Amino acid sequence: MSSDHNLPVSHTTLADIAEAFSRTAEKYDAFAEDHPHLTRMRGKVYAHVATLIQPGARILELNCGTGADAVRLAQMGYRVHATDIAPGMLARLAEKATKLGLEDRITHQTCAFFQLEQVTGGLYDAVFSNLGGLNCVPDLASVTAHLPLILKPGGIAVWVLMPKVCLWELATLFTGQFRLAFRRFARGGALARLEGLRFPVYYFHPRQAQQAFGRDFVRIGLEGLSVITPTAESKNLARRWPRLYAGLAWLDDQLAPRWPWRGWGDFYILSMRYQPE
Ligand SMILES: C[S@@+](CC[C@H](N)C(=O)[O-])C[C@H]1O[C@@H](n2cnc3c(N)ncnc32)[C@H](O)[C@@H]1O
Repeated sequence: MSSDHNLPVSHTTLADIAEAFSRTAEKYDAFAEDHPHLTRMRGKVYAHVATLIQPGARILELNCGTGADAVRLAQMGYRVHATDIAPGMLARLAEKATKLGLEDRITHQTCAFFQLEQVTGGLYDAVFSNLGGLNCVPDLASVTAHLPLILKPGGIAVWVLMPKVCLWELATLFTGQFRLAFRRFARGGALARLEGLRFPVYYFHPRQAQQAFGRDFVRIGLEGLSVITPTAESKNLARRWPRLYAGLAWLDDQLAPRWPWRGWGDFYILSMRYQPE
């Protein structure tokens, strides 16, 4: 269990992350509107979840942000307890749950990754984290250490993480953007800038992430998320050149579940089953 002493991220950094995401919450939702590429990416995550987690299951969501996934998962028949550290993000989630009449399926709690022993309502059937929230921690083991306290034996973690190898970012080498091309390989992580605040982001090979779960977990799924299609930041390619995008998406569908592409991309989806001895 974490004490204030051994938090893997300093209080200042956590406060900056919470403040940065709170400030950006409204823009975060606005950016997701009319963004077919991001919609496709989320759709692939939901399809992955649906193959592994039974409807009606109770899901603990980490770094839920403004609640896009909590809403969709609730509509798919799951019950979701959504957690985050940014009050501005959680406020938008609460608003959506009320507006859509999903309060009986979505609850929420302010909670950092390292305080999961404080999560209410456990044990859960699954622990879900989407779009790289967990890339804000330098050491995933500081989070996985808490999983036995909140996850049922046989339960599943579905985590969407940012890998080191992202072909679209590496390709920016040809436009002279060396820093962007190699930022994911920087020792000690890369510095993210959001709403005037800065905090480190860390990238993990799937092997590293898998090891962080330890011996009581077995891998049951791994696929790349947006390996051939661009990064989630790219809103315009899919809108301006839909036929080109459709071709890339087709290729992406073929390659993303296969080695070595399954561990590359803007993200990958890693699923681990908790099987304590
Ligand atoms: C990129 S957003 C992803 C949000 C959401 N999962 C989605 O798919 O839209 C990252 C989220 O991680 C949250 N976060 C970052 N560090 C955290 C921590 N230590 N504990 C809990 N949440 C954290 C941020 O507040 C932010 O809402």
